[in-house]
Amino acid sequence: MKSKLSKITAILLTVFFTLGLAACGKSAESTGAAASKAETKVDKIKKAGKIVLGTSGDYPPYEFHKSVDGKDTIVGFDVEIAKEIAKDLGVKLEVKEMDFKGLLGALQSGNVDFVLAGMTPTEERKQSVDFSNVYYTAVQKVVVRTEDNDKIKAVSDLKGKAVGVQKGAIQETIAKEQMPDSEAKALGKVSDIALALKTKKIDSAIIEEPVAKSYVNANSEFKISDIVLKTEDAGSAVAVNKGNKELIDQVNKTLDRLTKDKAIEKLVTDATNSVEN
Ligand code: ARG
Repeated sequence: MKSKLSKITAILLTVFFTLGLAACGKSAESTGAAASKAETKVDKIKKAGKIVLGTSGDYPPYEFHKSVDGKDTIVGFDVEIAKEIAKDLGVKLEVKEMDFKGLLGALQSGNVDFVLAGMTPTEERKQSVDFSNVYYTAVQKVVVRTEDNDKIKAVSDLKGKAVGVQKGAIQETIAKEQMPDSEAKALGKVSDIALALKTKKIDSAIIEEPVAKSYVNANSEFKISDIVLKTEDAGSAVAVNKGNKELIDQVNKTLDRLTKDKAIEKLVTDATNSVEN
């Protein structure tokens, strides 16, 4: 009797032990699977040794083309901030340029890892991508031809006239809402807008102040008009694909560091001074 009982106990013990071990094995396996599934965007970037920036190089001093050591390069304070982000991640920075309108799609398709393009974190954009904290803020200005500046003092002076805005940018909405009596012309690049203004295809353009100043400084044919637009400040933030939480945390860490050191202000001044006139 006793031996029968201990035999049963032994069998039961073995069964429990085996099941227990099997369960252990299983759970170890599943944690392994979970770990590889949970490879974050930051892990991928580190593995690749590079982070790919998407930007639109028509926006001095944020990002613009400049010949560096005889080579056409995209420079500007957005690019400098992107370099700091790459540095903190311990990877190289690769820059891909496209029209502003294509940037969100490039993020979503994984063609670029992050975007710095003076991009304002609007509610509409937040539906499709995630944003960092705002790292810089500017207001909107209306640029006109110098010869017309005396005649254009208010929005009403642009009635029936063409106003240039960048395709896919907030300026498109601002024109619609605040200059409904003007004809909004959306163009792909801010440099196209400047050319259209010069060649009288349009009569004015809504451009963010630092960019407006850069174009005005480089072209005596342009002036910033006295028109005051009712827009709240347009902030710029870094955009990443939805769900890349670790990457946004990293980006915000770098931005915090640069803000604390007042480094961003310096980068903006340096970039502004390096725009070729
Ligand atoms: N801040 C505006 C927006 O987010 C315009 C940005 C345009 N940027 C550029 N690199 N062209 O819509």
